Amino acid sequence: MLFDALEKHHDTVRDRRFETLLDGTRAEAFSATAGDLRLDYAKTNIDPTGREQLIELLNATGFVAKREAMFTGEPINETENRAVLHTALRNLDGDPVVVDGADVMPEVLGTLNEMRHFAKAVREGTYQGQGGKITDVVNIGIGGSDLGPAMSVKALAPYHDGPRCHFVSNVDPADIAAVLRSCDPATTLVIVASKTFTTIETMTNARTAKAWMAEVVADPGAQFAALSTAEDKTAAFGIAPQRVFGFSDWVGGRYSMWGPIGLSMMIAIGPDAFDAFLRGGQAMDQHFRAAEPVENLPVMLALVGLWHNQVCGYATRAVLPYDNNLSRLPAYLQQLEMESNGKGVSMDGADLPFHSGPVVWGEPGTNGQHAFYQLIHQGTRVIPCEFLVAARGHEEALHHQHQLLVANCLAQSEALMRGRDLDEARSKVADKFDGAELERQARHRVFTGNRPSVTLAYPQLTPFVFGQIIALYEHRVFVEGVVLGINSYDQWGVELGKELATALQPVVEGTQSADGKDGSTAALVGFLQKHGV
Ligand code: F6P
Repeated sequence: MLFDALEKHHDTVRDRRFETLLDGTRAEAFSATAGDLRLDYAKTNIDPTGREQLIELLNATGFVAKREAMFTGEPINETENRAVLHTALRNLDGDPVVVDGADVMPEVLGTLNEMRHFAKAVREGTYQGQGGKITDVVNIGIGGSDLGPAMSVKALAPYHDGPRCHFVSNVDPADIAAVLRSCDPATTLVIVASKTFTTIETMTNARTAKAWMAEVVADPGAQFAALSTAEDKTAAFGIAPQRVFGFSDWVGGRYSMWGPIGLSMMIAIGPDAFDAFLRGGQAMDQHFRAAEPVENLPVMLALVGLWHNQVCGYATRAVLPYDNNLSRLPAYLQQLEMESNGKGVSMDGADLPFHSGPVVWGEPGTNGQHAFYQLIHQGTRVIPCEFLVAARGHEEALHHQHQLLVANCLAQSEALMRGRDLDEARSKVADKFDGAELERQARHRVFTGNRPSVTLAYPQLTPFVFGQIIALYEHRVFVEGVVLGINSYDQWGVELGKELATALQPVVEGTQSADGKDGSTAALVGFLQKHGV
C-alpha cells in the first residue's frame, strides 16, 4: 500500500515530542523559501527520514512528468478530457502553450487586454451607466465564479481605488436583496460570472438583477457584462459581445480568477495591480516547475498535508490567517481543496484505498482564538494548523497593533507545540487550591502540546505576494492529487444534489405531489408547506 513505509515510520515516532527535534539547524532545514514566502514546517513531527520517504513516494508517482503534462496542456483532467491550464492565464510573457495543436497564448493575452480596456473605461468613466459614472459593481456568480474574486477584493482592500464591489452568490433572495438595496441601478454595472452560464443560482440572480435595473434604466443589458465560456447563452441573455469576456474549458471554475472571472477584482484595484497579482502567480509557477522537492514550497506544503492527513490520520486542517484581509481565504480554500481532492475513486475508477483530502476550515486570528482554539489546544482530536502572517500590515500608524497580531500568531504555534504539563499547571494555581482540589483544578489547565502547525510568512499582502500565495495553494492541491492518484479537476460530486433540487422544486411549490419521496423528505416538505413555503 502507498503509505505503508510512512505509516511504519510514523509508528516508531508517533509518541515522540517533536519539540525535541528543534536543534539549532532544524528551523532552516525544515523550512523553504520562494520569492517572498517562507514556509516553516519545523513544528511538525516530520524528521529527515519521514521527509525522505515522502519525497520518495512523490517521485514514485511520476510527479515530474505529470507536472510537465499540466504546464504543457496535456488533458490531465481525464474524466472530462480537458487540459488544466490556469497557469496560462498568468503566463504574461506569452511563451507558447499548445492545446490541440494551437498556441492558446494569443487569445489569453488578447482577452486580458480587452479586460484591461474595459476595467480602465469603468474606472475612468469612459464607460458609463445610464445615470453616469459607475459607482457600484455587482458580481453575480457562485463557487469559483464568486469565491476567488470576493476573497481577492477583500484581500487587496488597501489597493481598492475603483468603484465599490459587491458579490452575490446565494440563491437565497436575502443575498441579492441586501446588495441591490445599497446600489443605484442607473450607476451599477452587473457582471454575470458563470463559466457555463447555466448555474441555477447565478442565472436566477442575474434575472432578478436585470428586472431590478429595468425598472429604472431604458436598456438594462447595456449595464451588464458576462464572464463565460458560453457565448451563445450570454447573447441570449442580452449582453453585447463587446462586454463578454470568454475563456476556455481548460480553466476550472475554482482556478479561474486569474482570467475573466477576476474582472471585478481588476476593476477594483486597477489593471496594473491585477498584473502584479498575475506576476506573483507566474513567479510561483516558475518556482514550482523548477525547484527540487525539498526546496519547493507547493511540494513541501503538500507533503506535510499528506503526512498529517493520510499518514497520521488527522482528518481536518485549520487555515488560520493572521491577516484580517484574508478572512475569506478559508472559504476559498474549502472549494479549492475540497472540490478538487474530495474524491472517492482513483483516476482509473477503483475505490480509493485511503482517505481523500482533508476537511479544510478556519477563520482569521485572533478572532478564532476566542472561539474554537479551545478545542485545538485541549480537545481530544489533533488538528494540524496552517498559520499565515505578514511582517507588515498597511496601517502604518497602527504598526504596534500589527506587532501584537504577529506575537499572537507565533504564540499559538509555540503553545500548540509546547503545551503545559501537570507540574506547570499545578504551579499556576498552587496559591489558590490545595490537596485534591489543586489536582483537579490543575488537570483542567494541562495542555498536551505536541500539536503540529506550519507557518507561511511574508513581508506584506501586496498583489504580487497574494498571487504567490494563491498559486502556492493551487499547486499544493495538484501535488496532493498526484500522490493520491485522483483527478483533482472534475467535480461530479456536486451533481446529484443539483438534479434532486430541480426535481424537488415542483414538489416544494405544490404543483407536484411528494409521493415517491422518502418519508423524511416528504414530512419536511409538508411542514414547510404548512408554514407557507
Ligand atoms: O457546482 C459546482 C460548480 O460547477 C463549481 O465547480 C463552479 O465553480 C461553480 O459551480 C459555478 O459554476 P459556473 O461558473 O459554471 O456558474
